[in-house]
Amino acid sequence: MEEKTVKAKVHGVGIPPQKSADEDSVTRYGPEYVYFCRKIRELTGINLENYKGQQMHRRLEGYRVRHGFPDFVTFAKVVQKDPAKLSALVDFLTINVSEFFRNPEQWKILREKVIPGLLQESGKRWLRAWSAGSSGGQEAYSLAITLRELSVQGSILATDIDEPSLAKGARGKYSRDELRNVPASLVGKYFHPEGDLLAVNDDVKDMVTFRTHNLLSEDYPQGMDLVLCRNVLIYFTEEGKRHVIGKLARSLRPGGVLFVGATEAIFAPKNYGLSQMLPFFYSRG
Ligand SMILES: C[S@@+](CC[C@H](N)C(=O)[O-])C[C@H]1O[C@@H](n2cnc3c(N)ncnc32)[C@H](O)[C@@H]1O
Repeated sequence: MEEKTVKAKVHGVGIPPQKSADEDSVTRYGPEYVYFCRKIRELTGINLENYKGQQMHRRLEGYRVRHGFPDFVTFAKVVQKDPAKLSALVDFLTINVSEFFRNPEQWKILREKVIPGLLQESGKRWLRAWSAGSSGGQEAYSLAITLRELSVQGSILATDIDEPSLAKGARGKYSRDELRNVPASLVGKYFHPEGDLLAVNDDVKDMVTFRTHNLLSEDYPQGMDLVLCRNVLIYFTEEGKRHVIGKLARSLRPGGVLFVGATEAIFAPKNYGLSQMLPFFYSRG
């Protein structure tokens, strides 16, 4: 998978646009909004038709009003001319809230059952993992720390559509508040102070590679032992979700495991060649 920049990239592949004026269809919100969505796709590669329509329109309408744009056509024209405004908009619409060890009880299951199971099955002390929709790197570094605690080597690919989030991950510096879920013993072991922030130590940082990737339109890496795609699917339409789950499943090696978010249980996993091993964990048959 080659490295790419999000801006000024038109993705000609992906999911075909929906035709009906259902609640996920952008046409429901009028021609100016359709124009805006088309412009955003041309400028960023983000196809808003694959995100839950009503929710996305409500958020963008709020953003438009707060920033004083009289209508969606003006809004589109302004962001087209101003890269800083476009970047701020992408940051806003990708909703990149994250936490270290989000849903700690699931991380406990990952650490105590899923990773040991994967190692036993492969006979290796090495894992190839992907944090898909990695936001500011919290998830990828949580996994890197988990692997170090288990004395397991790992190579972790962290991808997102949002470049400022990827830059934050690559910097690897967090406030004490952002590290509130990390036990003090692990903070002491894997972070060091840098000014007011805590920076990830190099042994953890070196395990993670950050790259731009759009889950809705690009090819996926293959042969993964473990894929984390958490709190990303919830923003997609049903069609978008099905498309992404199918491709995530195929990015796993046989026996590999997909770890999803606390509200993202997969309906009919066998349709994707997956079977549920534990809540929120699915293995490829
Ligand atoms: C709520 S965050 C989840 C972060 C992390 N996985 C977690 O659970 O804490 C959702 C992330 O998905 C990313 N995202 C949204 N649409 C995407 C797409 N089409 N391709 C890749 N990433 C996307 C956003 O930029 C954002 O960083």
